[in-house]
Amino acid sequence: MKFLIIGASSGLGRSLSEALAASGHDLVLVASDERDLSVQCADLSLRYHGMIVPVACHIDPRNQWLDAFKDRMSMMTDLDGIFFPLGWSSDRDSVALDSEHVDALVESNFSAIVKIVSLFLNHFLARGRGSIVGFGSVASLRGRSNNVVYAAAKRALSSYFESLRHALANTQIRVQFYQLGYVDTPRNFGKRFLFPQGDPKIAAKRVMKNLHRDFGRVFFPRFWFIIQYVVRWLPWRIFKRLNF
Ligand SMILES: NC(=O)c1ccc[n+]([C@@H]2O[C@H](COP(=O)([O-])OP(=O)(O)OC[C@H]3O[C@@H](n4cnc5c(N)ncnc54)[C@H](OP(=O)(O)O)[C@@H]3O)[C@@H](O)[C@H]2O)c1
Repeated sequence: MKFLIIGASSGLGRSLSEALAASGHDLVLVASDERDLSVQCADLSLRYHGMIVPVACHIDPRNQWLDAFKDRMSMMTDLDGIFFPLGWSSDRDSVALDSEHVDALVESNFSAIVKIVSLFLNHFLARGRGSIVGFGSVASLRGRSNNVVYAAAKRALSSYFESLRHALANTQIRVQFYQLGYVDTPRNFGKRFLFPQGDPKIAAKRVMKNLHRDFGRVFFPRFWFIIQYVVRWLPWRIFKRLNF
């Protein structure tokens, strides 16, 4: 099978690339850093049998990235699924933020994903099957004073995936959304958290195992299924003091 991974060069995307390549699938890996991506593809091609192709694309609302991306994707007539472990957060993300940061956060965590799904939807409908897998964040469970725009974009993404699943309910196109708690990836290097971090390799295995299931949304690590209720229903007078 052939899969497209958007945000493939680091963390969860890297683990997913490894797991899918090890299972013999062909992959098209997308990230912004061309050098990282080329090394990763060369390494996977050496170790596994599938065809692994790099596509460097920096998703940036200031550039016409989608036009260049469309050109590179025009040969993808046999795609079986897309994974979106794409995401970007910023230490400066608070309730007041310069417009360039707002645009970059919304584009890389939400709009780019809608644009790429829109690009491939007719392809999947014509084939009558496919998988579209998104990754949200527990940061979007409840508004708080850091990662404000990131959390809002992830909440929008969650809503979009819900709509996508509803729109495709009578097809064989699987739409899945992983609501992620903390995962031990480079973006969290050196940070300390209230709850343990999940292993991206285990997350990747779970994503692969679930690929043909129709479940909509799940949490990883699983214990966030319980914690989400605590976060959502904690009385305001306590919640306002927390920094989760
Ligand atoms: N790690 C966590 O604790 C955690 C928690 C909740 C949710 N999540 C979500 O889970 C997903 C995976 O997270 P992760 O920790 O594995 O992330 P990560 O290590 O930061 O990797 C993000 C990937 O996205 C690519 N990317 C980011 N911005 C891009 C842009 N503008 N254009 C093109 N590529 C871009 C990066 O490539 P380049 O470096 O080349 O740009 C990289 O391959 C993300 O959606 C994240 O928001 C993660």
